[in-house]
Amino acid sequence: MFIQILGSAAGGGFPQWNCNCGNCAGLRKGTLRAQPRTQSSIALSDDGEHWILCNASPDIRAQLESFPRLQPARGPRDTAIGAIILLDSQIDHTTGLLTLREGCPHDVWCTEMVHQDLTTGFPLFNMLEHWNGGLRWHPIALEGQFAVAACPQLTFMPIPLRSAAPPYSPHRHDPHPGDNIGLLVEDRRTGGRLFYAPGLGQVNPELLALMRTADCLLVDGTLWRDDEMRVREVGSKLGSEMGHLQQSGPGGMIEVLDGMPAAARRILIHINNTNPILDEDSAERAVLAEHGIEVAFDGMGIEL
Ligand code: MLT
Ligand code: MN
Ligand code: ZN
Repeated sequence: MFIQILGSAAGGGFPQWNCNCGNCAGLRKGTLRAQPRTQSSIALSDDGEHWILCNASPDIRAQLESFPRLQPARGPRDTAIGAIILLDSQIDHTTGLLTLREGCPHDVWCTEMVHQDLTTGFPLFNMLEHWNGGLRWHPIALEGQFAVAACPQLTFMPIPLRSAAPPYSPHRHDPHPGDNIGLLVEDRRTGGRLFYAPGLGQVNPELLALMRTADCLLVDGTLWRDDEMRVREVGSKLGSEMGHLQQSGPGGMIEVLDGMPAAARRILIHINNTNPILDEDSAERAVLAEHGIEVAFDGMGIEL
C-alpha cells in the first residue's frame, strides 16, 4: 500500500492566515527551523495508479499540484482519485469537495452521522447535486469491513472514535457513534496494515488492541498539551473539548504509542500550528525522537 501525506497540519494550516503565535510568526520571519504545512489529508493506493483520498482539505488544489501521481494523464479531463473517504465532517476535512466539483460525480464513503451533517449543517451533498450528479454516497456501516472498487486490494475497517462533531453540527454536544471514525486499512497482497486517525480524543482497551495490529500508526498530533491554545493566547478551547488527545502527560499520545509493538512506525499528523513539535529544534521534538515518534510532513510517502 502506498500512503501519501498530502497535508499534515490541523485546521488553519501552518502558518495560519490570522495567527501570530510564536510558531506562525517564526515561520514567516524565517527564524524558526520548521516546514509549512497544509491541512490534513492523505491519499492511499494499492498500485500507485489508482488512489483513494481520505478527507478533502481546503488546500486540496495545491496538494494535487504537488503530487503528480494524482494529476490528469489519460484524457482531456482526468484524475487518479477514484473515491473519497471522509473520516468526519469537519471543515478542514470536507471543504475540498467544493474544489473537486469540476470532476463530479465522485464516490464518497462516509458514515450516516457524517452524511447527516453534510446534508444539514453544511449541505455539501445537496449543493453539489447541481454539478453533474454530485456526490454518490456510499454509507460506511460501523461494524465490519468495506472495500472500495478503485483499490480492490485494500480492505477498510471503520473504528468509531471518541472525538467531537464539528462546531456547526446539530450534535456537537451530543456525540453519536460515527461522528468520527478511524480506519484500519489492510493491503491483502502485502499484508501491510495502517491505522489512521487524525482526530482521536480517547483510547480504550479495545481500540488499543486494534492499534497494536498495525504496522504504521498515523494518529492525531494536534496538540502537545490540552491547554495549548490558552497558553499560546490564541483561543480558549481545550484539546479535550475539541476531541484531540494531547501528546504529553499521563495517558497522552506519547504514552499510548509507547505501548505499541516496537516494530510499528508511529507518526503524528493533523498538527496544530501552536504545537511546539513543529519547531525542529524544540525540546518537545527531541522528546518525540527519543520515543521513536515521527512527525508527518507534506509530501511524505510511506509504503506498507
Ligand atoms: C478539529 O480538528 O477540531 C477541527 O478541524 C477544528 C476546526 O474547525 O478547524
Ligand atoms: Mn481538524
Ligand atoms: Zn499559530
